[in-house]
Amino acid sequence: LVAGVDSSTQSCKIVILDAVGGALVREGRAGHPDGTEVHPDHWWQALSEAINDAGGLGGISALSVGGQQHGMVLLDAGGNVVRPALLWNDTRSAQSAADLTAEVGAEDFARRTGLVPVASFTVTKVRWVRDHEPESAARVAAVALPHDWLTWRLRGYGPAGSSPLGPDLEQLTTDRSDASGTGYWSPFSGSYDLDLFKLAFGRDAREAGAAGVPDGAVILPRVLAPGATAGPVHPECFGADGTVLHGAGDSDIILGPGAGDNAAAALGLGAGPGDVVVSVGTSGTVFAVAAELHSDTTGTVAGFADAGGAYLPIAVTLNAARVLSSIAGLLAVDFAELAALALDAEPGAGGVVLVPYFEGERTPNLPHAKASFHGLSIESTTRPNLARAAIEGMLCGLSGGLDALQELGYPARRLLLIGGAVQNPAVQRIAAQVFDLPVQIPTPGEYVARGAAVQAAWALTGTRPGWDVALDATPEPDFQALISTNYKRAASHSDAGN
Ligand code: XUL
Repeated sequence: LVAGVDSSTQSCKIVILDAVGGALVREGRAGHPDGTEVHPDHWWQALSEAINDAGGLGGISALSVGGQQHGMVLLDAGGNVVRPALLWNDTRSAQSAADLTAEVGAEDFARRTGLVPVASFTVTKVRWVRDHEPESAARVAAVALPHDWLTWRLRGYGPAGSSPLGPDLEQLTTDRSDASGTGYWSPFSGSYDLDLFKLAFGRDAREAGAAGVPDGAVILPRVLAPGATAGPVHPECFGADGTVLHGAGDSDIILGPGAGDNAAAALGLGAGPGDVVVSVGTSGTVFAVAAELHSDTTGTVAGFADAGGAYLPIAVTLNAARVLSSIAGLLAVDFAELAALALDAEPGAGGVVLVPYFEGERTPNLPHAKASFHGLSIESTTRPNLARAAIEGMLCGLSGGLDALQELGYPARRLLLIGGAVQNPAVQRIAAQVFDLPVQIPTPGEYVARGAAVQAAWALTGTRPGWDVALDATPEPDFQALISTNYKRAASHSDAGN
């Protein structure tokens, strides 16, 4: 058996699969606290609960951890977490992003790292800590990402007293997909851009295990290749808090390299060139799997590496599934009723448009923006139109990302729609209309965790497995022009106010 973990913004999920055919054998989950600033100990606790919920790790030969990207985990020399992690959706570093862009230049930044800084990326968060919390910054001995830290803990490392192997920071590892979301790693050269890290944080850094660098340099996790192994799960890695993950008599479990959640989803779906994946979860993401990477100096499309040896150009919005829960709450309906209402309205929602920037926005880069309804009239202000406008507006935010991918030359032959919110029939129907591409809905499943399990099987056998994914087609596209024209008009209005 192999196991894959998705340590996401809101919860931790684990799937345990048959290593040969990829069939689901058992699974478990546990919740994470809300907020954009979270102590990593909560992720560790939730991982342990999810593993217990799945009936433990007995019979498992390999495991890999996928997780939310970009979160800044700062460790001191004793392996302690210096301050709660700032997550990808924390926008306090917006000014740091603007400062770094001004200092380096958007074009140069994109040429070096594939990215133009926005508040989500780790590089802006380390700058923020340097500028706003100098005492914390001074204690930093290593900077890791959520999946790096969990992998390190699973191997038995951590603060002395609460881990069997202690705080060996040289053992920190990451993978190329998550490294590429930091803003100080280059998907073009496959190495850290240590000058950029120094510019952002004001201190030298080095990759874990690298020799010949000044003492006091900040350690960045060693970047593992696809199919590599990060080492074994320590049999007593939960010993300090009393829950032993797997008994000393159990077989060894090797760890895969782990991945950022979007790259893990691509692996779980078996997505290849020509596929575009749209995920509607806490974040909204649109990404392609590509053999080559083109840097986008506008910053709309970030040039990440994927977890399979190719690239993952991606556009990400901060406003996705939660837009629908906010509007459902406003209309005092549940998700199913919201869908029924939305499907009662005509495409274009009678001219009502929701510009959905409830949590600021990242694509376009408007961290302080707010949401607004446009086009309200006495006749058009109906519950069905408001419900429909919410779904159209949220999806149009994502379709801007698809347009940008296509403009950069990435082919889009079919669109795979994933994430909790896409089980809603109105979201499926309206997505086919908004994206103007054949849309396919994979059977509901934990694709991030599945992708992590693909990594586990790959690390175990040396070969990337090709497990099947069942897909359903949704209705053919129509009405795209009407919906997106209305939306673009309203969004350009809101942009003017920000
Ligand atoms: C990707 C991103 C989000 C997080 C959330 O750039 O910020 O998709 O990975 O899970």
